[in-house]
Amino acid sequence: MWHSRSRSYGRARLRGAGRVGLLAAAWLVGTEPAALTGQEIVSEPAAPSPGALAGRQVVLVTGSTSGLGRAVALALGERGAHVIVHGRSRERGIEVVEEINGSGPGSAAFYAADLASLDRVRALGEAVLRDYERVDVLINNAGIWLSGEDARRTSADGHELSFAVNYLSGFLLTRMLLPLVPGSPRSRIVNVSSVAQTPIDFDDPMIERGYSGGRSYAQSKLAQIMFTFDLASELESTGIRVNALHPATLMDTEMVRSAGVSPRTSVEEGREAVLSLVLSEDPGTGLYYNGTRAARANAQAYDEEARARLRVLSERLVGG
Ligand SMILES: NC(=O)c1ccc[n+]([C@@H]2O[C@H](COP(=O)([O-])OP(=O)(O)OC[C@H]3O[C@@H](n4cnc5c(N)ncnc54)[C@H](OP(=O)(O)O)[C@@H]3O)[C@@H](O)[C@H]2O)c1
Repeated sequence: MWHSRSRSYGRARLRGAGRVGLLAAAWLVGTEPAALTGQEIVSEPAAPSPGALAGRQVVLVTGSTSGLGRAVALALGERGAHVIVHGRSRERGIEVVEEINGSGPGSAAFYAADLASLDRVRALGEAVLRDYERVDVLINNAGIWLSGEDARRTSADGHELSFAVNYLSGFLLTRMLLPLVPGSPRSRIVNVSSVAQTPIDFDDPMIERGYSGGRSYAQSKLAQIMFTFDLASELESTGIRVNALHPATLMDTEMVRSAGVSPRTSVEEGREAVLSLVLSEDPGTGLYYNGTRAARANAQAYDEEARARLRVLSERLVGG
């Protein structure tokens, strides 16, 4: 059976994964029943063997079928990385993979998964655990902006949709993949957030009252930053750098164009900001960047009690 096979893979890796593995193992053990997923995700093309990846940076960029994620994936491919390309659109995903594999020196494989379903997020995590021994860089970039939408939408699990796609999926995926992230200052976790940030109302985190698309986006983006700060402190002794950023304001991407808003900056500007967190010698850890500069996030991100409430809520929602 695939499930038992993939879980023994995960366990074998946890054994050799040191402190990060232990932290994640403790978390995963608690969620083992929930980790059972539906249909298996298979990459296109097949992931390279561990030998073929020796000496190469392995990078997972969620939402790399378009916009910022695509630009970051292509740039890292040009620098020789193996890029795990992800999104829902197979057509656009394969295009990115072919561009990277066709021009080298990097390589790529595409994994399709809808992050609006926790079952699919788990399946994505299981597929990466099955196919890779190491993920040096994890960029949680996939996102939606339900700008101007006043009708509240929910995920497959019944959670408010922006919270589910922009934040909760990255929370679960990151927790699942921690055993693969080497404990090294070269290892990076980057959460692509935004300057749009609204505090979470813990009496109504799914925004059942007073919903707006803008509020749901801004709440989910602050949740990403709160998770970033929490995770950075949890991983401090491992060396792994965990940061969040606002890449650039109103970049010329599908997200902005489909909102009917005039772009103000280029994708390249946002790409450089993300790359600096991935490639610079030491961007620090537990920081929020606005572009390439460390900045101050919404006050709730510095409230340890609020972060603890978010952590407890998130673990409950993902079945931890
Ligand atoms: N654009 C801006 O000015 C701006 C400013 C601040 C922050 N950001 C942040 O930057 C990130 C990238 O945004 P972008 O402007 O590049 O947007 P984009 O061009 O619309 O790209 C969004 C990406 O996310 C993926 N995605 C969306 N919903 C998904 C789902 N349910 N499951 C799986 N993948 C999903 C899309 O893949 P598929 O289409 O294949 O599903 C696509 O690859 C987002 O987190 C956004 O909040 C953007």
